[in-house]
Amino acid sequence: MEKIVINGGTPLFGQVEISGSKNAALPIIYACVLVKGKCILENIPAISDISFSFEILKGIGAKIKMLDRTTYEVDCTNVEPCISDYDLVRKIRGSYYLLGAEFGRFGKAKVGLPGGCNFGVRPIDQHIKGFEALGGKTTTEGGYVEITSEGAVGANIFFDMSSVGATLNIMIAAATADGVTVIENAAREPHIVDCANFLNTCGARISGAGSDVIKIKGVKELHGCTYAIIPDMIEAGSFMVAAVATRGSVKITNVIPKHLESISAKLEEMGAIIEEFDDAVHVTAGGNIKKTNVKTLPYPGFPTDMHPQMSALLCTAEGTSYVNESIFENRFRYVEELKRMGAKIKVDGRIVYIEGGTPLTPAPVIATDLRGGIAVMIAALTAKGRTEISEIKLIERGYDNIVAKMQALGADVKKITVPDAVDIEQAN
Ligand code: EPU
Repeated sequence: MEKIVINGGTPLFGQVEISGSKNAALPIIYACVLVKGKCILENIPAISDISFSFEILKGIGAKIKMLDRTTYEVDCTNVEPCISDYDLVRKIRGSYYLLGAEFGRFGKAKVGLPGGCNFGVRPIDQHIKGFEALGGKTTTEGGYVEITSEGAVGANIFFDMSSVGATLNIMIAAATADGVTVIENAAREPHIVDCANFLNTCGARISGAGSDVIKIKGVKELHGCTYAIIPDMIEAGSFMVAAVATRGSVKITNVIPKHLESISAKLEEMGAIIEEFDDAVHVTAGGNIKKTNVKTLPYPGFPTDMHPQMSALLCTAEGTSYVNESIFENRFRYVEELKRMGAKIKVDGRIVYIEGGTPLTPAPVIATDLRGGIAVMIAALTAKGRTEISEIKLIERGYDNIVAKMQALGADVKKITVPDAVDIEQAN
């Protein structure tokens, strides 16, 4: 088993380069299934969610070539609508984009239900509603979702809530559908704009991405292209928060500052100094870091994917703050881990209350999920002494080279391999 060991208490200083966006790269990789031709994808993050996705695509006949560490050639010319490895598909959330992509290309799909971080119930009813509006007959049985049809047909769809996954899945399926699709109450996250830009570069006719109404004029075929994925706003936000939590000063490069506005605004409100450049932000903790309150919201609001990191930071601010989680019903498993580190933190309904100002102390902790994992890393960076973090595979699902990037900022952090725990029954 691998663990991350952190000797905390050292402020982060220096410069870090942000990788490509996980949540943009995933739909774009699956959208390649629509394309008869080669797509060269640049700025792909080196994370396990992406390698699993490439495995899934290879399983249906895609040819994937790594051109360098962050550039891949994806050729889906000869893919077949066969059933993907169930265990692989359930490892990640993004695998649900295979449904939209295969439905768009073949008019049918059968894909295992997705996995991803455990935040309580994560229904896909809006995806299903969208597929049915596009003429698909869907069944969910034996752990699989199956769509059958004579081919996807354009339609008007009004989503019940802002859903990143449903918006992307329907946009992908509709790109080669017969006729025009209009998605209303669409999600507006930058990764939706990025996927629309990718599809348009391949010949799709999508307008309005980034607003809550997206119009997709179906085209017969898409062609290959070269496309660079946008930088990961959540990786950038995580480093911004880590800089402030450790009372350091970090220049974060390869970012789109506009995507970080809700995070920058919150950090400034807390007393941090943020300097913006064309493609970088420089974050300095400055003097006193003040308490604040946060409510997670769809973009352009404060992202749910920054909630646990923010809680870790608020442990270091004087006074009582709260984080109100409005997107997921149970994104709080990390709270117990912060408690192990001495945090005065409690959950009431969907609100986390944090009484800050008492230094955190080291303890053995686990990464409960991707963002919960980076939150305990940030907490450990502030705590004087040695913290060991287990279940780090969950962090590596979404953070490219996290240990090396933290080391380059002066953090005393390393990865160690320890023997797996002995099965107690066996030992007895
Ligand atoms: N929802 C439904 N029905 C649906 C779809 C969503 O009820 O059919 C609900 C969800 O349960 C949730 C809300 O709507 O309460 C928003 O969910 P959304 O569909 O937007 O989330 P997602 O597609 O499951 C993606 C990201 C998450 C990120 C959310 C919100 C990917 C692969 N995952 O999930 O990323 O938190 O959008 O921005 O893009 C992460 O990167 O750590 C992560 C969890």
